[in-house]
Formats: sequence, structure tokens, C-alpha cells
Amino acid sequence: MIVILDLGSHENTVLARAIRALGVYSEIYPHDITIEELKALPNVKGIIINGGPNNVIDGVAIDVNPDIYNAGIPVMAAGHDKALCAVKLNRFTDDIEAIKNAVRPFVFDTCKAETNWNMTNFVNDQIELVRRQVGNRKVLLALSGGVDSSVVAGLLLKAIGDNLVCVHVNHGLMRKGESEAVVELFKNQLKANLIYVDVTDRFLDKLENVADPEEKRKIIGGEFIRVFEEEARKLEGIDFLAQGTIYPDIVESGTKTAKMVKSHHNVGGLPEDMKFELVEPLRQLFKDEVRACGLELGLPHEMVYRQPFPGPGLGVRCLGAITRDRLEAVREADAILREEFQNAGLDKKVWQYFTVVPDFKSVGVRDNARSFEWPVIIRAVNTVDAMTATIETVDWPILMKITDRILKEVKNVNRVCYDMSPKPNATIEWE
Ligand code: XMP
Repeated sequence: MIVILDLGSHENTVLARAIRALGVYSEIYPHDITIEELKALPNVKGIIINGGPNNVIDGVAIDVNPDIYNAGIPVMAAGHDKALCAVKLNRFTDDIEAIKNAVRPFVFDTCKAETNWNMTNFVNDQIELVRRQVGNRKVLLALSGGVDSSVVAGLLLKAIGDNLVCVHVNHGLMRKGESEAVVELFKNQLKANLIYVDVTDRFLDKLENVADPEEKRKIIGGEFIRVFEEEARKLEGIDFLAQGTIYPDIVESGTKTAKMVKSHHNVGGLPEDMKFELVEPLRQLFKDEVRACGLELGLPHEMVYRQPFPGPGLGVRCLGAITRDRLEAVREADAILREEFQNAGLDKKVWQYFTVVPDFKSVGVRDNARSFEWPVIIRAVNTVDAMTATIETVDWPILMKITDRILKEVKNVNRVCYDMSPKPNATIEWE
């Protein structure tokens, strides 16, 4: 592997991805890693030190441990004259191909790294490692149907079969057909040990008359943990909890120079008395690698390339206090949008697209009479990291077809709007 020492450059993750794309494994470590820690890592063939604009932290300049240069491992550094191999890195862009070309000579000619990082090897290694960790004991997994949890399920099924117990909680805020698809694939086709809990009424009762977005999010998140805990308590002899933690979660909340971007919360928050050992087979992978892993495991394309969907689901797209009729409207309109984006090939191009139903009505005409019904708002955005986003400029004929279908097929709706706002000033979701 090639080790990248983190001096606070946000190029480091792109750099690691580029090296992996060359077929050589790469990981990011804190800048002050000791020589002992470094030597304990398996098969380190080279070190890259890439200082960025955050070289000064809290007014103190940071640098790597100087012993690193004497470890007998080739070092590639930008702006460090002590490096054994001080190949100058030009300013990196986010262009993976350009970065691959820039590091190729160092990785292969200087470090003589071998290309053995690929998904077939990864899957085989992880199956072996999980079997070693878990033995004959049981692992619990909250299977939402999102990309990460689905790939974990696929991998663990191969590794431990029936000793994987999946729980799918349908909180009533899923998209149309989504829970059914999880059950169909994992329970019916792949024969996973899957417990399906439909707690729609419980969630909608709890959310009744709650209009504040943060309050809604808290109720949905808290209730989700409670349901999962209740299901876990019914099971016997579970020693492990599997999580779909991926590498960006670890880098973002892990290294010393990176600002805390978000606290990742897969199924955190289980009570103290429920002690599980964690199984996190995707913790080394970037998102695009997780998808490649899913394909390698034979999971369907639509599951592996599913667009991001927030934990609180349609709950944050049915604005204000959730009612069943508006929830139904947002779900049906979303299904139409997804179908028409697929027909137009936009599902492969646009990063995230969905509908929103606000909690106000407007006047219209239906069957020659005055109507007073909800609007549907369409949102379609592109982004790299979800921190900023631009809107997709969807062609008018496509938007008109979607509008026509929503107005004909979705009950209680008389108007369709397109959200033109980038992030910032807006966020991607409305709540
Ligand atoms: P915003 O609305 O903050 O969303 O621009 C950025 C991205 O995050 C997704 N999102 C969530 N994902 N749990 C998640 O797993 C959540 O609570 C959540 N809230 C927002 C959102 O869909 C977008 O992709």
C-alpha cells in the first residue's frame, strides 16, 4: 500500500482514490504517525506527504515526524526537500486521470508497487476476514435498502449465510415499492434471514401535528433506534452488529487535521447494556468502490446505483406536519418522477431527484369547478460531495410530461413547480 500522510489537504482523498484506481491500495494516516505505527502497517511501499492550506492548525505549523524520512521507504513530498524521492507534485486538481498520471511514476517506478487492489480480491479477503472474526456466531444488520447496507448484506450473506440476521424497518416514509424491493431481493431471492417490521402507524402517530423539521428528524431517528432495539432484544445469541461504515466516514471524523464535517450515525445510539462487537467490512472503501463491490457480489444495478435517500425519508419531503394524504401525494409524484427520469435516461446523469409537497394549498380548476389543492415541487440536483449543488436544467418537454402525469395521476394536487435553487443558498432537501 501507499500511505498518504495528512497535513490537512482536502486533496488527500482524491489522491487515495486515484492511487487505488491504478490498482494499488492506499490509505490516509495522521501526519504525526510514529515510525513504529508506520512499520506495523502491512506492506507499505511508499509514503506521500501532501501539505495543504491547513498546514497551520490553531496557530501552530504542523509537519510530519522527521524520522519518516529515514524509514527506508520512498517518500514523495510536495515542498519537502528532505524527501528521499522529492518528486514535485504539481497542484492537484479533482481530475482523477490527471492525478493518476502525476503519481504513476512514483507508485510503480520508485516504489515498485504491485497492482493487486481490485474488487475480486477485496471481496475474497473480506469474506475470509469476516469468517475469522465471527466464527459460528450471529451478526445483526439494519438493512435499510440503501447502497451501503445492501452491499454489507450481500457480502455477509456470502461470508456467513444464515448467521446474518437482517432487520428491515419500514417506517412508512419509504419511497413507493422500496420496502417490497428489499424483501423481494434479500428474503425471496437471496434467502437471507430477514425480519421485516412495518411500523408505519407507530411513526405516523408519533409525528402527528409535529411541524418543526428538526423535531421531526429527532422523532424519526429516535423511534428508529427504539424499534431496532426492540427487535434486537427479541433475538437471542447475537454478538455482532454490522454497519455500513465507509472510508469517507472514517476520514471525515477520524484524522486530526480534518474538520469534523458530520457525525456519522448509522445505527449509533443503541443502549449501553446492549454490547455488540462491530463488523464493518466496507470501512476501507470509497463510495464508488462500494458500488463496484456490490456489482462484484452480483447485486442488481438499480440497487447499487440507487440515488441517495435521507434517513428520515419522505418525512422531510412532506413539509410541515405530515398527513397521510400529502405523504401519499409525495410518494406517488416521486414514483412518476423516477419513472420518467428513467425513460429519459436522466437517472444515470442526475445525482439526486425527488418531489416535495408543501403544507399549503392553492386555487385551481378541476372539472369546471374551483379546486383548492396541494402543489408538487420537483427538485433535481448535481453535486460531487453534497456540500454544494447545482440544479439540473431538465428539458421542457420532459418536465411537461412529468407535470401532465402528476396532475392526472396524483390525488389532491393541482400545480407543479420546479425548484431552481442551488446549494447554497438552499440545501438539497427542503427540511
Ligand atoms: P442537504 O439537504 O443538507 O442534503 O443539502 C445533503 C445530502 O444529504 C442527504 N440527507 C441525509 N442523508 N440522513 C442521511 O443519510 C439524513 O438525515 C439526511 N438529511 C439529508 C440529502 O438527501 C442530500 O443527498
